[in-house]
Formats: sequence, structure tokens, C-alpha cells
Amino acid sequence: MRLDGKTLIVTGASSGIGAAAARLFADEGARLVLGARRENLLDAAAAQITAAGGQARWLAGDVGDEDYARGLVRLAEDAFGGLDGAFNNAGMVGDLLPAPDLDSATWQEVLRTNLTGAFLAAKHQIPALRRRGGGAILFTSSFVGTTRAGLPGMAAYASSKAGLRGLVQSLAAEHGHEGIRINALLPGGTLTAMAGDDPAGHDAIAALHPLGRMAQPEEIARAALFLLSDDASFVSGSAMLADGALSARL
Ligand SMILES: NC(=O)c1ccc[n+]([C@@H]2O[C@H](COP(=O)([O-])OP(=O)(O)OC[C@H]3O[C@@H](n4cnc5c(N)ncnc54)[C@H](OP(=O)(O)O)[C@@H]3O)[C@@H](O)[C@H]2O)c1
Repeated sequence: MRLDGKTLIVTGASSGIGAAAARLFADEGARLVLGARRENLLDAAAAQITAAGGQARWLAGDVGDEDYARGLVRLAEDAFGGLDGAFNNAGMVGDLLPAPDLDSATWQEVLRTNLTGAFLAAKHQIPALRRRGGGAILFTSSFVGTTRAGLPGMAAYASSKAGLRGLVQSLAAEHGHEGIRINALLPGGTLTAMAGDDPAGHDAIAALHPLGRMAQPEEIARAALFLLSDDASFVSGSAMLADGALSARL
């Protein structure tokens, strides 16, 4: 029970890595506030956790909306009496197009969701962690944009995920003295909706990884569990790869 007694926010909890993390964190004793836009999936995820004996609430919204960031924190404090950490994991890829063909609205939407959303989350979570006397925040970045893995058609996504590393370093330096740890997790290709459902596409992504396959979302969730638990009590300001050695071979 590595999260026993802790209250955590998990965004992107309606699917993929976030949904797997929510199930795992609940099994490890956490009380959860689940976030994403699709109400039916959040409701089902919370019901599944409750049926298994855990505690979960949910609030649907857009992570790029500051009121939503504020609302998730308020729900954690109202429902469970405080906040101990957050897995800010919601993200999107957007159209996979060469930069000259990418419209600026898509660029803005990807940056707003992946990077501005992360900033807004931290902005409202850090004061709550401070009220609690410390805590941990984890962002889902990616091998894309952060290692030597430049991939065509991913200018907006790569820029947003690279930006998260700068955000992590800055926040970790700002809030370490308050007992607040801030980290980024960099998954490799993971079998979620984001990776599509084309087997040939999966094979091509799998082939990039020396482990010879894509990750299951549960494997990424276990890496997130480490970074949010007290097992990582001296890990802050880091960008941890869980990429099946992809970036080691590039
Ligand atoms: N799959 C991969 O290969 C891979 C690799 C490296 C990093 N990642 C990162 O891992 C994270 C999770 O992605 P995934 O692979 O689990 O994909 P996924 O199954 O598509 O999940 C994405 C999640 O983000 C939520 N989301 C997207 N835009 C949102 C918004 N504006 N407001 C609130 N929630 C939003 C989605 O929920 P709603 O649609 O219900 O809002 C969904 O729960 C992302 O940050 C992604 O960039 C994925």
C-alpha cells in the first residue's frame, strides 16, 4: 500500500495510462480525484474503484481551463480533506502534419492542453500541497521531443512535451524547500487510444524499441506509482524514461 492515506489527482483518467494509473493507485491505498472530459468514462472508472473498495470522485472538464484546475483541487480538499499529489497526465497529439501544413489553431490547442494545462494544474496544486506540508507532482512528458527522437509531423506535440521538462526543472527548484517533489515521466510507445488501432502502426512503433514491443499502460502506471510514492523521496526535478531503451539506441 504505497499510497496509503494519500489523496491524489489523476488527469487523463478516462483512458489509457491515466485509467491504468487510477486503478493501480487505488489498489495502493490512494483516495482519488479523477479528471478528463468524458463524464461517462470517469463515472465508470470511479464506480470500478469504489466497487473494489477504494475511494474516488471525478470532475469532468478541460485541463486548459484554469477554473477546471482550481476545481479539481477544491474537490480533493472538500471530499478528502487535502491533497498529497497529482499525476498530470492528460494529453493529446493533434494532427500529424508537417509544420507548413499544420494550422495554428491545432498548434495552440496542443500547447494549451499539454503545456498550459500542466502549468495551470501545478499553479493550483502547489498551494494545496503547501497547506499539507509537502507532496509530489508528476507530469507525463514523452520520449518525443525530449530525447534525440525527433519524429516527423509532431512539431506541436514535441514542443509541448519538451516544454514540460523546463517546467519540471523550474518548479522543482522553486518548491523543493517546501517538501514538494516535481518530476516528469517519459513513456515510450504505449498501447492506448493515442497510438491508434492499426496493427501495422503498432508493429512499426514496437520496432523502435530495443525491448521489441510497445508498453502496456499498466507498465507506465507502475513507473508513475514509484515517482509519486515515498519510494522516490529524494527524486525531484528528474525526467524518468520508461521507453524500453528506445532513446538509448537512437
Ligand atoms: N501512448 C503513447 O504512446 C504515449 C507515449 C508517450 C507519452 N504519452 C502521453 O501519455 C499521456 C496519456 O496518454 P495515453 O497514451 O493514455 O492516451 P489516451 O488513452 O488517448 O488518453 C489521453 C487522456 O487525456 C485526456 N485528455 C485529452 N485532452 C484533454 C483535455 N483537453 N482536458 C482533459 N483531459 C484531456 C483524455 O480524456 P478525455 O478525452 O475524456 O478528455 C484521456 O483520458 C499523454 O500525456 C500522452 O501524451 C503517450
